[in-house]
Amino acid sequence: MADNIKMEVRHISKSFPGVKALDDVNFKLKKGTVHVLCGENGAGKSTLMKILYGIYHQDEGEIIVDGKVVKIANPIDARNQGISMIFQELSFVSDMTLEENLFLGRWIKKNACLIDWEKIRDETKKLLEKEGLPYKPDTPLRSMSVSNIQMIEILKAVSFNAEILIMDEPTSSISNKDVESLISKIEELRSRGMSIIYISHKMDEIFRIADEITILRDGKTITTLQKDETNIDQVIELMVGRKLENQYPKEIMEIGEEIFKVEHLTKQGVFEDINFNVKRGEIVGFAGLVGAGRTETMNTLFGLDTYDSGDVYLNRKPIQVRNVREAIANGIAMVTEDRRRYGIIPVRSVMENASLATLKKYFAGGRRHKHEEIKDISEVFEKVRVKTPSLETPIKSLSGGNQQKVILAKWLLCNSEVMIMDEPTRGIDVGAKKEIYELIGDFAKNGKGIIMISSELPELMGMCDRIYVMKEGKITGCLENREIFSQEQIMNYAVS
Ligand SMILES: Nc1ncnc2c1ncn2[C@@H]1O[C@H](COP(=O)(O)OP(=O)(O)OP(=O)(O)O)[C@@H](O)[C@H]1O
Ligand SMILES: [Mg+2]
Repeated sequence: MADNIKMEVRHISKSFPGVKALDDVNFKLKKGTVHVLCGENGAGKSTLMKILYGIYHQDEGEIIVDGKVVKIANPIDARNQGISMIFQELSFVSDMTLEENLFLGRWIKKNACLIDWEKIRDETKKLLEKEGLPYKPDTPLRSMSVSNIQMIEILKAVSFNAEILIMDEPTSSISNKDVESLISKIEELRSRGMSIIYISHKMDEIFRIADEITILRDGKTITTLQKDETNIDQVIELMVGRKLENQYPKEIMEIGEEIFKVEHLTKQGVFEDINFNVKRGEIVGFAGLVGAGRTETMNTLFGLDTYDSGDVYLNRKPIQVRNVREAIANGIAMVTEDRRRYGIIPVRSVMENASLATLKKYFAGGRRHKHEEIKDISEVFEKVRVKTPSLETPIKSLSGGNQQKVILAKWLLCNSEVMIMDEPTRGIDVGAKKEIYELIGDFAKNGKGIIMISSELPELMGMCDRIYVMKEGKITGCLENREIFSQEQIMNYAVS
């Protein structure tokens, strides 16, 4: 039945300097369904969506909406065609209020020059009420969480009468609870007849909400599957082009001496009396709900933030970490959660970004050993399959997941004693996740200590030797024996 097709993408191709991002892509979006796009980092998912939203233009191919070929020159065109998009990297003007954001560019006016703020407020209230959202129209976006802003973006889409909604990795930086609200919202929109294109690397989530799944690999459409007729293993295999076994390649290693110790670390109102240690060769996990204080604690230990009291020891000697430079000098490295803010210099090349943390390692006898550096970086890049046209490419033109890989590679190359990783595999495709676990394992094998924060319990249970659990700024439990790690027990410590 052709008439239940909302949109069709035919023979779309798109090249960037050095890469063919899309190569003859085809798929059909049915009315009132959720269509998931799957593919490895750099497969072309975001590029395709940006074409549908008029940010990029295809070199070849056509887009058909409601049976008619449409030209989408820019996002305004896209909206006129009923297409709205929520981005992988949320972009909004943070100094704006909710209502300003909603009516930006389409102000309701009293006359030629006066904006009718009363009307705007009324309309905003009506919209909020209709969608059951408990916010005030004059809330500054700055004060809202990522997940609330997403809801506002959805609200905006609804207010534009969007019939097609594109969501590019909407759950990559929101808490599990917020994922639940988002999923119910999506289900509601679908039941109202909206057609949704959804991108995610999280398999369980994909299998919950998808009606159909289209798989992209190296810019080509591999196939479209009905959710009910496929399974996670098949999707992964089609995505990466090979079978993946043993997702958590954890080796049991000899655990050495204590390398890092934190005693009574306290910051008023943020975390309290934090005590833990890490031994050589050990991977120590930190579990907890979003907001439990894990990121704040680790940021402090990396010198990104200050603390009120407590002691930090490296190799049994007390150390100070008043700022990042001191932390790095002491041998502490960190892959931060907010990699956009602390992780990258967007306009600089992939190579420059990758070698930022290791400059010292390759400086000896007053000169820089660039060959060695390039060789090491290339090796790690190959291992985690960083997809980049060259080492000279600006990092900002890499796909989201590939930027993550470069940053991870940077820190994995760095000769630090202790590595703190906050959500190291967020936004990374299933195939590359495994390679990253292997690199973390190598790091441990070299006698280093690893601290890993993750919201994915299977990942912590699969990779860690010990797991601390935090709740409301305190450590509430520690699971010592990896033989008996259990999801229930961790959740107990995290919530009760
Ligand atoms: N503005 C750009 N300039 C140059 N190359 C680009 C640009 N945008 C994307 N690319 C390249 O196009 C390819 C596809 O990237 P895209 O962002 O579409 O991947 P993706 O499937 O969304 O990956 P991820 O899961 O990592 O988000 C990549 O090789 C990327 O480097
Ligand atoms: Mg992307």
